[in-house]
Amino acid sequence: MSFNRISAAEAASLITNGDTIGLSGFTPAGAPKCVPAEIARKAEHEHEAGREFKINILTGASTGQSCDGALANAQAIRFRAPYTTNSDFRKHVNCNEISYSDLNLSNTATQIRQGYLGKIDWAIIEACEVEQVGDKARIYLTAAGGISPTVCRLAQKGIIIELNAFHSKSCMGIHDVYEIEDHPFRTPIMITKAGDRIGKPYIEVDSQRIMGIIECNVPDEARAFKDPDPITSQIGQNVADFLLANLRCGKIPPTFLNLQSGVGSGANAVLGALGQCPEVPNFNIYTEVLQDAPVQLMRDGRVLSASACSLTVTNECLQGIYRDMDFFKDKLVLRPSEISNCPEVIARIGVCSLNTAIEVDIYGHVNSTKICGTKMMNGIGGSADFTNNAYLSIFTCGSTTKGGAISSIVPFCSHIDHTSHFVDAVITEYGVADLRGKCAMEKAAELIKVAHPDYRPLLLDYLKHADKFKGHTHHCLSAAFAMHDTFTRKGDMRLTDWGEYLK
Ligand code: COA
Repeated sequence: MSFNRISAAEAASLITNGDTIGLSGFTPAGAPKCVPAEIARKAEHEHEAGREFKINILTGASTGQSCDGALANAQAIRFRAPYTTNSDFRKHVNCNEISYSDLNLSNTATQIRQGYLGKIDWAIIEACEVEQVGDKARIYLTAAGGISPTVCRLAQKGIIIELNAFHSKSCMGIHDVYEIEDHPFRTPIMITKAGDRIGKPYIEVDSQRIMGIIECNVPDEARAFKDPDPITSQIGQNVADFLLANLRCGKIPPTFLNLQSGVGSGANAVLGALGQCPEVPNFNIYTEVLQDAPVQLMRDGRVLSASACSLTVTNECLQGIYRDMDFFKDKLVLRPSEISNCPEVIARIGVCSLNTAIEVDIYGHVNSTKICGTKMMNGIGGSADFTNNAYLSIFTCGSTTKGGAISSIVPFCSHIDHTSHFVDAVITEYGVADLRGKCAMEKAAELIKVAHPDYRPLLLDYLKHADKFKGHTHHCLSAAFAMHDTFTRKGDMRLTDWGEYLK
């Protein structure tokens, strides 16, 4: 049997109003690009003709402009989970046009299998190769694992493949495809080292379930990173110094820990700085997204092996990996998100998690997702998967943003994703707030020390006012969000006047 070659428009014509599509990819890496863009066009035509057309989209993580951006702009998304980073999508979510469910990424495939997210109609998968072996098809994924094995298995109407020549066939073999059993029959996941392989390099399905293959040559829609600046470089140096101090006093084992680093320019810069610190021993990475900086560290011999869900790198970096696959193939493994982010594995192998916070409050609670408590930024991603199970969990952030008008350290987070129980240290350009073994008020003192100097007196004043409401923590509830409120009204948290809020 040979596979049916179809155009992206023909594939899009198969998708009907109300369908649920499960996509490959994790971040824009490895996500299909041609069919989602055609579905967006179809949606526009249907809407012009006065017909309803909205679909539900499940992915490993975010996608790029041709999917989340185009479909959101075409008003074609009814429901979306579990994570996105697209700015157009964000606008539509924050206008309440899209039903968006922010999920822990380790749990998405499980929730799909449990039926919590409805049935899957179609799997749309980007591949670098599809092989026919008897009545089976072997699908070789590109730059990400995501939820592809699960959605391929469960798609009721069929599987559509974007065979994208942009991804070299040299990446066949980079994936370790393994699906966790359903409860209560789960068995231990036999990963004991970051580079271990426990599955197959491809997804196997009945070939008759592949409804069509679209041949294309389209680059990944990776975003360029902002170059490290003096602030992110200083944060990176502070992280390195903190880890070294922990290594010297035996709080980190001499073999070091597996490192996880979050998404974004800040995280990329931190890992880069860490690798350049000669006293930090060579290390392994167990993470969800591998960005450009750690790939360079692999080339430099600083990173010995890396387990990730996606290569969220610039296209130049990606092509370099494909070119040098002989070097990378025994050092780099891509996994489905339920394995890359698996709490059980993370807790067992010893991971130092490094994630970025939007804001942190004086008692160590962290907001990773909502600006001023209401506007969705991206989503929690895998930050809780790693933070909650890490040997050592660190959050980093610049002490201020928006030219100093917003402090990242606030009296009370306007939204909380990570409670203080899971947060070991918070690191800004002003130093390290080591929260381990400290009571709430000691944590407050540590955190105010790493706030921007412009904000330290304001935060200390808050504590003074809150003193009269003291319990285990000291809070004055009428003033707890005064800094946020002042920013909303006057455009700068530094203009906070506690007197306006004290009752
Ligand atoms: N209030 C208002 N805006 C804020 C803010 C705050 N407290 N903190 C950050 N921002 C804004 C920045 O000003 C910036 O805005 P801009 O795009 O208009 O310039 C934007 O948020 C991004 O901030 P930036 O400093 O560039 O951070 P980043 O690219 O490193 O991303 C997160 C930071 C928190 C948004 C990102 O790490 C994230 O989505 N995290 C959640 C998921 C996660 O941690 N995944 C990793 C798990 S493996």
